[in-house]
Amino acid sequence: MHFKSPIAMIIPRRFLITAALPYANGPLHIGHLAGCYIPADIYARFRRLMGEETLFICGSDEHGAAITLRAKQEGQTPRAIVDKYHKMFVDSFAKLNVSFDYYHRTSADLHHQTAGDFFKHLYNKGEFIEKTSEQYYDESAQQFLADRYITGTCPKCNYDKAYGDQCEQCGSALSPTDLIDPRSTLTGAKPVLRETRHWYFPLNKHEDWLRDWIEQGILEGEEHHYVDEWKNHVLGQCKSWLDSGLQPRAMTRDLDWGVDVPHDIPGSEGKKLYVWMDAPIGYISSTKQWAKEHSGDWEQWWKDPETRLTHFIGKDNIVFHSIIFPALLKAHGDFILPTHVPANQFMNLEGDKISTSRNWAVWAHEYLEEAPDKVDELRFYLIKIMPEHKDSEFKWKGFQDAVNTDLVNNLANFINRVVVLMHKYYDGVVPEINDLDEVFSARGNKEISTHEAEMLDLFDRMHEVMQGLRTYEFRSALHALLELSTAGNALLQFNEPWKQIKTQPEVVAPVMHLAVQYVAALGLLTRPFMPDTSDRIMDLLALPRLKEEGELLEATNTLAEGFYIVHEGHTINRPKHLFTRIEDGFIERQMKKLEESKSALQSTFEPMKDEISYDDFTKMDLRAGTILEAEKVPKTDKLIRLLIDLGFEQRQVVSGIAADFSPADIIGKKITLLANLAPRKIRGVESKGMILMAQNGDGHLHFVSPDPLCEDGSTIS
Ligand code: 2FM
Ligand code: ZN
Repeated sequence: MHFKSPIAMIIPRRFLITAALPYANGPLHIGHLAGCYIPADIYARFRRLMGEETLFICGSDEHGAAITLRAKQEGQTPRAIVDKYHKMFVDSFAKLNVSFDYYHRTSADLHHQTAGDFFKHLYNKGEFIEKTSEQYYDESAQQFLADRYITGTCPKCNYDKAYGDQCEQCGSALSPTDLIDPRSTLTGAKPVLRETRHWYFPLNKHEDWLRDWIEQGILEGEEHHYVDEWKNHVLGQCKSWLDSGLQPRAMTRDLDWGVDVPHDIPGSEGKKLYVWMDAPIGYISSTKQWAKEHSGDWEQWWKDPETRLTHFIGKDNIVFHSIIFPALLKAHGDFILPTHVPANQFMNLEGDKISTSRNWAVWAHEYLEEAPDKVDELRFYLIKIMPEHKDSEFKWKGFQDAVNTDLVNNLANFINRVVVLMHKYYDGVVPEINDLDEVFSARGNKEISTHEAEMLDLFDRMHEVMQGLRTYEFRSALHALLELSTAGNALLQFNEPWKQIKTQPEVVAPVMHLAVQYVAALGLLTRPFMPDTSDRIMDLLALPRLKEEGELLEATNTLAEGFYIVHEGHTINRPKHLFTRIEDGFIERQMKKLEESKSALQSTFEPMKDEISYDDFTKMDLRAGTILEAEKVPKTDKLIRLLIDLGFEQRQVVSGIAADFSPADIIGKKITLLANLAPRKIRGVESKGMILMAQNGDGHLHFVSPDPLCEDGSTIS
């Protein structure tokens, strides 16, 4: 059997793979895993299996306002917080078999030095502009607010949870002052503006080359990467930023925990590097630390154009890694740029957004404690529903179905049958065959085929899995892997060795020989997705476990040259089950935990009131209106006097909303008024009606505003 494969001719390349540095202020959950760490791990393992020089880098992001706040809340130092979560991350990643070559941390001296030097280099080159501006300050937290710590309503699409740097609904680039009704995410308070001086990176100066690079994959007139390989949602977000015009962005902040702006720069006191100048430089310092410990050359990984740099990140870091960090690298001058930023979208959980504060998540450390022997099962399901192109949804029932159907009934069943039959008929010794020995087709049409033709089919199926892995389409790759197992099962089903052994034993040998090659292919190809499973399959075959040193390339080359992965005369091990079913009880316990989170949350809201009749409801006269005037009621903390336009008349109303709103900000706001409430005097001021407000679990008030198209005076029912 001879056929040529293009793979045999591929020259090994160097792959530098990074995964977003997780913030060390809370544990990892399935959203982080599916969004970033599992896909990055799949890709790193695949590249190693293909014999390519690979370095997979990550570390804990130990800076930022959220960490300081968490420390305050827990009465701890930031150092204690980051130590706690860094340790937890290291432990969870190890148990999940995420195969980082180096996992570093940004509080390390080497990182502070590296990030400080990077900043200084740009400063010396004149890449920054210094500007005094007004920035939001949270008076209760007593700190300036990083853009990410301000939320509010997007001025472009009205999404009410937009961040100070970006709206995740419409993708628009924003500044914190663009937000309508801004709030500090640290305390929920309304931030105030204060003057401060910072170093800005004029992104606008880089707009032209960035556009060529993003839209055409061209850098300095040469092809840099294939744009077609980039995901639409990644390109879409970048284009939306470019189209709205890039702005200078402050690279420093007033914070008390982080990397100092180098002290020899005038005005550096109290200034720290912002996440954009800090976390991604962590990829570089992590590489440096790896190089120190492994006699490596970090510069080769970051400066040699032969290196292909890939950033795995979640959707919230797209612009950061596709525009801001590349522009910083380019401005520095010595560094290569990423050839791919395969960001994923978000994963939801049982119909709701994953939320740390609402405890609506599947926490990695909890799962690992409860099901330490089911790591590959979790990896499998997370890959099966990975949000590669659009948001996806984790459901415990879906997890159970996926494991029981795909892993137990399909994959494990096939492999077990092969091993059992091999021992039954051949004492576990791979039988001798001739290429032209006949087998019935594995494709189910019962036509007779040759062993050679069936090997070609297996080879094609392996390529399909590899194609998915190469192009970052991990869901399709996993699908192709399961199809390979299904085809193996069909091979047994249609050839029925258990019947043939009595009547036509000469047909059983090529079928079982082929089935063993299928199992070996599964042993190789499960590796990037489910590394432990790969080990168990290789153990069953009595073949060495994969070290990820080019074994997949070698195996496909062997096949291309007409040889087999498992040789005739090789003895395989005795059967052992690969997976067990997920019982209902396990799923019920997980669902119960989520229900508890939900009821804990509901208890932070007011309890439900008694039932009322429809007539009770219709007694209320609710009207749309607009605030015309607003002023604080003197000598009160909470009261604002409002003048409301109802279209047919104007009303004076007193409302207890001053803790959440300042009068100037709410003029022009659409409101809903309970218009037939009996007039009453509040602190001596007459109030005719009541504005409807909603109160969140955190106690903050929000207007219940009708659609802007509702005319003043229109009835609401
Ligand atoms: O958004 C985040 O999670 C930050 N810790 C930054 C991650 S990206 C990076 F490491 F550059
Ligand atoms: Zn928006």
